[in-house]
Amino acid sequence: MNEIVKGLEIIKKDDDLISLGSRLAFHPLAIKEARGAILIDYDGNEIIDFLSAACVANIGHSHPKVIDAIIDQTKKFIHYNPAYAVFEQMGNLAEELIRITPGNFPKRVAFSLSGGDANDNAIKVARSYTKRTKVISYHRAYHGTTYGALSLSAVSLAMRKNLGPFLPDVYHIPYPDCYRCNSAPTDSGCNMACMEQLKELFNTVVPKEEVAAIFLEPFQGDSGVIEPPAQYIEELVKVCKDNGILLVVDEVQSGFGRTGKWFASEHYGLEPDMVVLGKSIASGMPLAALVARKEILESWAAPAGSFSTAGNPVCCAASLATINVIEEEGLIKKTEELGLYAVKRFEEMKGKHALIGDVRGKGLMLGVDLVKDHKTKKRANEETAKISYRCWEKGLFITFFSGNVLRIAPPLMISREQIDKALDIMEEALGDVEAGRVPDEILKKVKGW
Ligand SMILES: Cc1ncc(COP(=O)(O)O)c(C=O)c1O
Repeated sequence: MNEIVKGLEIIKKDDDLISLGSRLAFHPLAIKEARGAILIDYDGNEIIDFLSAACVANIGHSHPKVIDAIIDQTKKFIHYNPAYAVFEQMGNLAEELIRITPGNFPKRVAFSLSGGDANDNAIKVARSYTKRTKVISYHRAYHGTTYGALSLSAVSLAMRKNLGPFLPDVYHIPYPDCYRCNSAPTDSGCNMACMEQLKELFNTVVPKEEVAAIFLEPFQGDSGVIEPPAQYIEELVKVCKDNGILLVVDEVQSGFGRTGKWFASEHYGLEPDMVVLGKSIASGMPLAALVARKEILESWAAPAGSFSTAGNPVCCAASLATINVIEEEGLIKKTEELGLYAVKRFEEMKGKHALIGDVRGKGLMLGVDLVKDHKTKKRANEETAKISYRCWEKGLFITFFSGNVLRIAPPLMISREQIDKALDIMEEALGDVEAGRVPDEILKKVKGW
């Protein structure tokens, strides 16, 4: 890798001027250009992207069809506040989102600008529709940083410290995490203790008839790619149905092909009352959406769900092009296959590298959980930071979450050769760290979150 010189000048300006509430400390990456799965920095380095802008660039960076769609629409007109005038791109996109999201029932769409405000819309409209106030979310969930979404989120104290009070009537329960299960399994296997905790909440703290909605990430993303067991989801659906509680599924990270299906809900045959979409929906243009049962989005009145620049026709055009590319290039099937291939390679690495405790996820939403000890599952935080840094030095941009889970989330169009190169780099980095070849010094730089 060329020495980072020009990049550091650019980063310095950012360090001096930009709010500290937004950038996480990983590597000194300043991007000059990006194409497909490759990032090009200001010092001429070509780096494989294993983050996809945090699952924003699912179809790869700067796809020519998205660029064309943006230019074409921009030449016609850029925007008009959709509260006051109609343009066809919004309706066309709503039609497509209704088609691809799970659930063969009448739906409507509410557009917004970020995954966070789409979750806020979901809280508002769930309350309005059910005339109930309480909402339930999960420990270690990430739903965004607008106040509603932040109130749902519980991934780390860093995002909540000194920011309260949060939205009232939001309750958190443990997420079903089979690798780090808090309850000792019975002789006959899993005893669904996580489901019992929801029932206990209903018995002791929250009357279920007062609950408007439960917010679920179908794979919990930022806590380290946790996949709930199918039985949990089945029981959750039943609890919601039996008690008139809406099930809101946040597919902001797991959607748009990321897990080898259009939506992670499909792995469970799940048809949520509301689906929250964002990130890759418009390949990086600011757009998010809430797709919900028709009657739910008919239960509130304007401007309760209005944003001046939401559903912008340029963003809608980018989103329509993105959907088209996913289908035309067969990215969903390809993601499923690449995911299976990557998991197989990680399982082989697990046999050789004691640091790998667990490999989780589907498609190209994978987590490699590094532990100091397979029995205690103590998180190998320093080793993880060092591996991430060593990969960076070798031309692979890879981050981690929960301190010790390497995040595997490349663009879905990444080639088999690029995946192989990246996994080779990861394996070399694992070896380097295990052999003590990466100095402790780097822990001052790579903090992660
Ligand atoms: C599952 C999930 N929901 C919501 C969000 C928030 O999206 P945004 O950053 O666009 O507000 C994120 C972002 O990481 C996410 O992973």
